[in-house]
Amino acid sequence: MTATDLDPDARDAADPLASFRDRFVPAPGVVAYLDGNSLGRPPALTPARIESFVREEWGGRLIRGWDEGWWEQPGTLGDRIGALALGAAPGQSVVADSTTVLFYKLARAAVAARPGRHEIVCDTDNFPTDRYVISGIAAERGLTLRWIETDPATGITQEQVADAVGPDTALVTFSHVSYRSGWIADAEAITALAHDAGALALWDLSHSAGSVPLELDAWGVDLAVGCTYKYLCGGPGSPAFGYVRHDLITGLDQPIHGWAGRRDPFAMAADYEPGPGVRRLLSGTPPVLGMLPLTVSLDMLAEAGIDAVREKSLRLSDYALDLTGAWLVPRGVTVASPREHARRGGHVTLVRPGFSELLDPLWRRGVIPDYRAPDGLRIGLSPLSTSFAEVHAGLSALRDLLPHPGRGGGVRASPPAAPPPGGGGPDWGRPAPAGRARIPRPAPRVPRTRGAVAT
Ligand SMILES: Cc1ncc(COP(=O)(O)O)c(C=O)c1O
Repeated sequence: MTATDLDPDARDAADPLASFRDRFVPAPGVVAYLDGNSLGRPPALTPARIESFVREEWGGRLIRGWDEGWWEQPGTLGDRIGALALGAAPGQSVVADSTTVLFYKLARAAVAARPGRHEIVCDTDNFPTDRYVISGIAAERGLTLRWIETDPATGITQEQVADAVGPDTALVTFSHVSYRSGWIADAEAITALAHDAGALALWDLSHSAGSVPLELDAWGVDLAVGCTYKYLCGGPGSPAFGYVRHDLITGLDQPIHGWAGRRDPFAMAADYEPGPGVRRLLSGTPPVLGMLPLTVSLDMLAEAGIDAVREKSLRLSDYALDLTGAWLVPRGVTVASPREHARRGGHVTLVRPGFSELLDPLWRRGVIPDYRAPDGLRIGLSPLSTSFAEVHAGLSALRDLLPHPGRGGGVRASPPAAPPPGGGGPDWGRPAPAGRARIPRPAPRVPRTRGAVAT
């Protein structure tokens, strides 16, 4: 591939979504933000929206705001996410809690909805919180975890699931897009396998929503949950979304019975009785301020359309893979993400021993990818805010920190050149990325463990 073939400018010039990039808050000194799959950038309209909410709605309307839309916001926003990103008809989605808490509520409700069945099928490479929560539920309910060993460079397959499910399976749960490799699981086929076994399927959509189009209703998905602060740009710690297929809602008893999910909450009645709709997933007061930035970023997603987002996402990841092939593979880097479009999500993972030492020098140069232990750099590509020039700049900085082909040796933790103007200094970055980055890989597990996880 020639330098001209790898030119980012022609790609940016031909990009129908290019103008969206200027509609995000600028990040001084950041040359390449390649971590929108972890935390999306704030739209430029978000600060004004927050200010006007505080002054006019909170400050001006005070408690009357609850009757003027706040109380309904979990369902209103849930339906919006459902329509724009999940392929879900209204009345099945809410925004509430964190992903971890909502995942617990749905998983716990699912096993309760399958009495007499004692197994949960899950995989060793799912995001840690999902594995921990499922282990806790197994311990709490005396259930058996049936772990599928996942190849961290790919993901869960139908064959593996078909081998694992059976008449004792209550629940199967996986991530749709693997947080590590970006592998897209076949959610429709795997859900059908769960149904054939009489089980329910719960999907973690954190790395799909707002990046990979989803068709939850058409796929027959039972339950789903996901983060809103990644591709949906809801801001750090913004509340999660949850989905329950319409015909399952009335039979679903989530374990945290709170007043906000009760039928007629303002009756202040003696006993809990779940609300009639998907709102029964709620427990406490809706996090109205936490949901606010989503009202802005979802407008942008609506304007762009999820299909155009996906199209650009694939062009960005194709480009990242082309640059990797030309520059990084000769320097010992391997790609731990699928090549086929149908199986590739919104990020690509590159692997090379010693990558952890490169985070600091990259951050000093204004290049922000994500590190996943032991040796993975995730290149997150957010179609509305990432340009091709950014991918070029980020991967060329990485190339410059790796030893030349043939010279061998480790990575160049000391940058060979000075950071770009405005690219250094502690003012824009967190002190040291290393602490958060070192998430251990789960130890291999025996196929079946009763109660808590055996490592
Ligand atoms: C796939 C996946 N699931 C769950 C979570 C946890 O979400 P939270 O910390 O908001 O509960 C994350 C966080 O990054 C994630 O990537």
